[in-house]
Amino acid sequence: MASANNRQILLKSRPNGRPSADNFELVERPAPEPGDGQVLLRTLYLSLDPYMRGRMNDAKSYAKPAELGQPMVGGTVSELVASRNAKFAVGDIVLAYAGWQDYALSDGGGLRKLDAKAAPLTTALGILGMPGMTAYCGLLEIGQPKPGETVVVAAASGAVGSAVGQIARIKGARAIGVAGGAAKCRFVVEELGFDACIDHRAPDLAAQLAAACPNGVDVYFENVGGAVQQAVWPLLNDFARVPVCGVIAQYNATGSSPGPDIATILRKRLLVRGFIVWDFAAKQGDFLRDMAAWIREGKVKYREDFVAGLETAPQAFLGLLEGKNFGKLVVKVAP
Ligand SMILES: NC(=O)c1ccc[n+]([C@@H]2O[C@H](COP(=O)([O-])OP(=O)(O)OC[C@H]3O[C@@H](n4cnc5c(N)ncnc54)[C@H](OP(=O)(O)O)[C@@H]3O)[C@@H](O)[C@H]2O)c1
Repeated sequence: MASANNRQILLKSRPNGRPSADNFELVERPAPEPGDGQVLLRTLYLSLDPYMRGRMNDAKSYAKPAELGQPMVGGTVSELVASRNAKFAVGDIVLAYAGWQDYALSDGGGLRKLDAKAAPLTTALGILGMPGMTAYCGLLEIGQPKPGETVVVAAASGAVGSAVGQIARIKGARAIGVAGGAAKCRFVVEELGFDACIDHRAPDLAAQLAAACPNGVDVYFENVGGAVQQAVWPLLNDFARVPVCGVIAQYNATGSSPGPDIATILRKRLLVRGFIVWDFAAKQGDFLRDMAAWIREGKVKYREDFVAGLETAPQAFLGLLEGKNFGKLVVKVAP
């Protein structure tokens, strides 16, 4: 393997505000050799996710920043191409965290073997992976939708939001999506079965949302913040729940952003709770059981958005922050 070429996309500099292609650098190095107890992984698929924007900053957060001069971090579906670890064999396919590169070493810690016959491999990065589990746990543990209630979720055609609305429907609630553009909104209603979907670029977003939620909003699954949050907030019912999952509209902000009205939290006795998916690690078994069954039964559908080639990752990631992806964004790395 010493002769194999390892393309890596490094974090070259930290962005101030909106990131650009200049923050990344593509380099080529020889693939490393596994030592005792190690395996060599070849990336088949790389997941691109909004949290990576936060890792580009040198800021205190729930996870360490990505290191300058090192490959960008990221979840992967990888194939073992060499093994000096008795638990893994050449040819095993695993869920790994190998980052933006063709090859990576691992001591086997944190690798999960995948079975291509059980589910398409890329679902481990999306609907049956971290984003699907985020939707499942955030909605069911914090949102707790009841039959007949109204659940609103933004980024509704994306990896997390698409699952949130479909699970809300399974639980007997009304699901109202918010998404960017007519094509995404049509998909959310016609393919995913949401009750309605509003384009967040519409000048009368607040009025359209109010019309779609005549009984107010019982669960607002917060994925974006910004203008969508401000349009939903006045519609919240007393005792509404707000799982705060992400604020992608604010990830590139350099100053302070307008936030929720704290007095409303008090007056309406809202339950607002931020969460990181791994707070619910103990629920992973329930999630995998339920989500796999819902997919089999046709109750949950998912959409993936593939780009080809490791070198396309920076542009595809920048597009994700602007809504250019349509579904779970995955880079097909190996030809
Ligand atoms: N707490 C956790 O553990 C956790 C785990 C996973 C994800 N998350 C968060 O969940 C959210 C969704 O993630 P995802 O993986 O499902 O990504 P995604 O929806 O597949 O992609 C991101 C989408 O965000 C939307 N967006 C971007 N800028 C926006 C803006 N200014 N206003 C409204 N929408 C905007 C775009 O869709 P449109 O074209 O529809 O605008 C874009 O396609 C993110 O905030 C992410 O950080 C949190």
